[in-house]
Amino acid sequence: MTDFSTIYKLSLVAVACFVQACSSSSSCPVVDCWFVQEKAGRGGGLTAPTTQEKSLLFIGTEAHSESPKTQQAPPDISPDRVYFVTDPDATLCHRSLNPPKGSIKKPQCEINPFQPQISSLKWAAPLTESALSPIYLQADWISTAIQGLNKQLGVSSIMRAPTGSKEHDVVLSVTTKTVSVQSRLGEPVLLDCGFWTDPTSPLYGSGFAVEWRYQFRGDGRLVLAYDGKADRLADTQEEGATLDFDSLHEKGNASLILQEAQVRHSGTYICTVYLPYLLAQVAVELEIVEPPSLSIHPSPLPLSVPGQILTVQCDASGFAPLSLELSWEFKDTDGKSRPLGSGSVTGHRQAWDGTFSQSSRLELDTSKLDLGRGGEVTCVAVHPGGTRRASVTLNVIGFSTPSIEDSMAMVGVALVLYGLIKFVSWTFTGSGSDEANKKDKKEK
Ligand SMILES: *[C@@H]1O[C@H](CO)[C@@H](O)[C@H](O)[C@H]1NC(C)=O
Repeated sequence: MTDFSTIYKLSLVAVACFVQACSSSSSCPVVDCWFVQEKAGRGGGLTAPTTQEKSLLFIGTEAHSESPKTQQAPPDISPDRVYFVTDPDATLCHRSLNPPKGSIKKPQCEINPFQPQISSLKWAAPLTESALSPIYLQADWISTAIQGLNKQLGVSSIMRAPTGSKEHDVVLSVTTKTVSVQSRLGEPVLLDCGFWTDPTSPLYGSGFAVEWRYQFRGDGRLVLAYDGKADRLADTQEEGATLDFDSLHEKGNASLILQEAQVRHSGTYICTVYLPYLLAQVAVELEIVEPPSLSIHPSPLPLSVPGQILTVQCDASGFAPLSLELSWEFKDTDGKSRPLGSGSVTGHRQAWDGTFSQSSRLELDTSKLDLGRGGEVTCVAVHPGGTRRASVTLNVIGFSTPSIEDSMAMVGVALVLYGLIKFVSWTFTGSGSDEANKKDKKEK
């Protein structure tokens, strides 16, 4: 009887856990956000002053699915800054936007007011050639930019609510799953960008445009611009950058393909998707990381005698970015390693392809450094792309501090030599006296 009730209780617990797991895995997050807007009544100036207000986004995939109004907002958030968002595509329900309860790390989120506008850009202007129902545009529009945990996802959305309502529908979402990309030199690179448009929106199916821009330290250029309505690419200076146009039209895949990574490609890429009157953009960081190639000169090292000063040089070349630590190590014949410092490191040079080179010169004083009979001299280069090593063998002859075995061998050699000399001189003088004796006898 007791057994039965235990099993019954356990199964109840199991069912409860199952239900909870199901509901929590399918639920969309509530995202902490900042609502940022320019201060009213203060025009002009490059950086307009802004205000920040704490804000909250309740996200669901169906309208009114969780009767959001029953959900309590914390008292430090104004009810005006609580938004109930419907995202049928569930882009905003990605797990990187839904950290475990109590987690310190949270997604970053910003909300801005948004104003639908006509674009004058050559590739986006055709989208608004045919006039559109102004009633649809007269609404409360906001844009959100959210970055998921561990740079798994970046998503920007444009949302619309009927005027006065706080229930917003996602109309356009632009996402990237490669917020930060690293690539070796010469490899093809994919910078992910995709977009989704609400099929029930009157803006759906009336064309789109895609633009990729490059930015690095205030420098910017247009990489690629595509008018999806007229199927036309704008003229740009950039070579080796393209889109997969089939995938773009079928799935909204606006990923940029760079055929061959070069150092000058390092920087920020901004993917902007235009719909009529709307635009949303995400940023992708690309870093080209190439570890150095090392060479040591002279190689092999000349034989050296104690007291001699040898100069060894290590050349690191073909690396990027410019972040390198050169040092030296010595490994004696017993396999024991010790550092020899960094030597004197030269300034860097930049090659035509943007990669860097740098050298270190080491003065090896064979008497001071206690190098014994020699060993292995290694140049170590530590770089974000990996650690590289190059070695040469050092041979010191006539070493100054002989080991015990050496001393014993020397004593042995001395003894043998002594014996040999003794023997030779004995046979020599011995036979000499014999002959002298014979001569003596003959003369007698
Ligand atoms: C987008 O297109 C690129 C290039 O064809 C492809 O490698 C990538 O997997 C596509 N992404 C998605 C999400 O389909």
